[in-house]
Amino acid sequence: MKCLDCGYETDINQKIITCPRCGGLLEIKVKLKGFSFSNLKGRGVWRYKDAIPGNYSKIVSINEGNTPLIPSRNYKQTFYKFEGANPTGSFKDRGMTVAVSSAVNTGYKVVAAASTGNTAASAAAYASRAGLRIYLVLPKGKVALGKLAQSILYGATILEVNGSFDVAMASVMRLYKDLGIVYPLNSFNPWRLEGQKTIAYEIAEEIGEPDNVIVPVGNAGNIYAIWKGFTELQEAGVISKVPRMIGVQAEGAAPIAKAIEKGLNEPEFFENPETIATAIRIGKPVNWKKAIKAIKSSKGTAISVSDQEIIDAQKRLAREEGIGAEPASAAALAGYDKAIKEGIVDKDQKNVLILTGHALKDPDAMLRLDVRRILINPEHIENIVLGEINDNN
Ligand code: F0G
Repeated sequence: MKCLDCGYETDINQKIITCPRCGGLLEIKVKLKGFSFSNLKGRGVWRYKDAIPGNYSKIVSINEGNTPLIPSRNYKQTFYKFEGANPTGSFKDRGMTVAVSSAVNTGYKVVAAASTGNTAASAAAYASRAGLRIYLVLPKGKVALGKLAQSILYGATILEVNGSFDVAMASVMRLYKDLGIVYPLNSFNPWRLEGQKTIAYEIAEEIGEPDNVIVPVGNAGNIYAIWKGFTELQEAGVISKVPRMIGVQAEGAAPIAKAIEKGLNEPEFFENPETIATAIRIGKPVNWKKAIKAIKSSKGTAISVSDQEIIDAQKRLAREEGIGAEPASAAALAGYDKAIKEGIVDKDQKNVLILTGHALKDPDAMLRLDVRRILINPEHIENIVLGEINDNN
């Protein structure tokens, strides 16, 4: 394990979450030995257990991962990795199975997470499964209804802050540092990212290496995790190259996209992030250093899209492709369209968009879309339908 901030190095130790010397972000270096997809058994995240360091004598799993890679109807070689098909409806489950298993195997009884909603729902489910006490810290009034309802369903204790996710995040970080007995389930915990990297393993096993991978970015852990997965496979000679990582942020919460655009080495944080895509309404991404490393080393980039572009993309995904994704996930398609227009990616290359969460997470966003909804007299239903069919002919 190596600290991205101060360079401190230590042997792999599952008990370590942040740098023991400076508190910075740790990277877990994994070297695959004799790895081949043809030797693997089982499905989902734990199919790739040879690539996940640590001791997992007890695994807390709800059969996460193994999500569908859906070919696009509109673009020839483009695929959607639909993470909404995970047990709680987002990619977070991949990280939670590893992090919560780590918490159990290292003896923790209490876990905590700050969240814009999906981490909360996922952490709550896995904590229940493991029999752990869980505290969730949420930005009051800014969590999509489905996610809040899930957190309630799984029985978590919900602590709300008047402020953004960034305020909630800082308080969980403090709780972890001050009270070592609480295990943090946020993505500054590098063990969580070891689970999330299996998105890359699944894609590579199914279609080999893509040219570009387009990922919505919030707290900025997932884009790094996916890049890390591809990098490990490339270093082991399983694939020939690492795809370019293209991060997408909402205009009102775009510190990483702006940093890349302006050529800055460090992002300028957004004090009051705002976007309809509440999942990525984040102004101070904890993992910014990891995200920038992934983007730069893969010769990728990051771009920002407007809320209107996100809404339009969500609608197109649903109404042209039949895929229901939440607004933050639809940002990947909005960003993809923009990247094609600006010549950043070629639509005829092999490209994968990561659709991070299910549309059902955010019913309010769906209800705001245009709809034909007509109160009818059931006796006369055929008049309406026949009338319309005739009109259309
Ligand atoms: N898409 C969805 C649906 C998300 O919920 C998140 C993050 C992201 C993308 C961005 O991933 O943070 O790794 O860059 N949601 C977190 C949460 C912050 O609390 O659920 P990231």
